[in-house]
Amino acid sequence: PSPSSLSSSSSPSKSQLQIRKSHLLVTSQGIITHLSPSDSPSSQSILSDPSSPAPIFVGGKYEFFLPTYTDLHLHAPQYLYAGTGLDMPLMQWLDQYAYRAEEKIDSDLLLARRVYERLCLRLKQGGTGCVSFFGSLGVDSNMILAECVQKAGLRGFIGKLSMDQSPRPTYGEPSTEVSLASVTTFLDRMDELVSSLPPHERLVEPILTPRFVPTCSDELLSGLSKISKERGVRVQSHMCESADQMAWVESTRGKRDEEVWDEAGLLGDKTLQAHVTTLPPDLISVLKSRGVTCAHCPLSNAYFSDAQFPLREALDAELKVGLGSDIAGGYSLSIETSMRQAVVTARLREGARREGGGAVKVDEKGLRVDWVESLYVATRGGKMAMGLGGCFEIGMEFDAQLIQVADEKTDEGTGKLDFFDLANEEGEDVDDARWTELVERWWCNGDDRNRKGMWIQGKRLS
Ligand code: GUN
Ligand code: FE
Repeated sequence: PSPSSLSSSSSPSKSQLQIRKSHLLVTSQGIITHLSPSDSPSSQSILSDPSSPAPIFVGGKYEFFLPTYTDLHLHAPQYLYAGTGLDMPLMQWLDQYAYRAEEKIDSDLLLARRVYERLCLRLKQGGTGCVSFFGSLGVDSNMILAECVQKAGLRGFIGKLSMDQSPRPTYGEPSTEVSLASVTTFLDRMDELVSSLPPHERLVEPILTPRFVPTCSDELLSGLSKISKERGVRVQSHMCESADQMAWVESTRGKRDEEVWDEAGLLGDKTLQAHVTTLPPDLISVLKSRGVTCAHCPLSNAYFSDAQFPLREALDAELKVGLGSDIAGGYSLSIETSMRQAVVTARLREGARREGGGAVKVDEKGLRVDWVESLYVATRGGKMAMGLGGCFEIGMEFDAQLIQVADEKTDEGTGKLDFFDLANEEGEDVDDARWTELVERWWCNGDDRNRKGMWIQGKRLS
């Protein structure tokens, strides 16, 4: 066990920050086995037991642990061109940029490794500890992604793409049979990789990834649905992403996107769907009753969709939801950017709803989402959707980032960091209201400079 003692802040409830000060936290094989105030009898007995190891970490006055972020939707090969090419509607953008980049990654495995190593490094630096990845078509490149994620000490769901229909002659799978055989090979190789590791060190897992309806036949979708049930594997895709994509599905299948998924048996509790922007009013309750998770990708939706995911309604309906960067449809790898975009987007939705409808009352939420709720979605929301914990409770995985909001020396006027704690010039303890204020200021204006450490499954990565 490795005890550590410090403040933590997490949002296990959607609308309230939970702040724990001066606690003792103990982990065993990456799992939290003890968490209570340092001066409680149970903590004291651990601290006074001579056989307990020395604390491996003791936090400072202005530092707190926050659960790591989860990115529920990221196209790993597209990191190659992230930050460029956002000048087209989705269906053209895929032809022009996405398929080409993925084909390049599949044909140059040295490049794949370079891109994936760099991606993992940047994820760590950004506080993202768990990702549901879309890879490319090739089994080998996806195994490289899995190896890089595992080696970096990050958690990852690795999604080898399935697409038996493709507009690009050199990038696609030639038949449904070949596509299903290829994903079976991938699952077997992932089983081999994972079973070679001790159980508490297993950080990667495969996820079935039919790209989206336009690249998958009905036979492929039902084949994947069968594999998912037989092998207990999760499934992810894109659903109701944009107007051009939905029109494509309607004109070629004569159905709405969600109907295709439903008929294939792929709207269940193992399914993660990204975007879900243009949806009929009753779809939220259907998704909720089926246990489907949605990945909200606000930045990408702003570029490609004519609408945004209805986050307020989803939270109120208790739908499972997390955030996604959607690299490279979204240009930023940062989940902090996604959180801020989610809040801004919700405010714009509320503004549009009220157009001409007078001023908003202070206590009226309407369609807005606040910063604490966005923090919940980024941490606990995404993790819960993937069957993990995402906050600090006994029995949950210890995946944490250490955030420093102010330097203690700031009080003495050295002005080292951004967030001055004006009320505490006398050096007394920071109370809960003050902590909430400091965390909010960090949420608005903090960045990687505030991140002083990261742990996944109890192991320190930085
Ligand atoms: N829909 C199908 N494929 C993709 C992709 O690669 N990116 C985005 N944003 N949407 C998609
Ligand atoms: Fe995407």
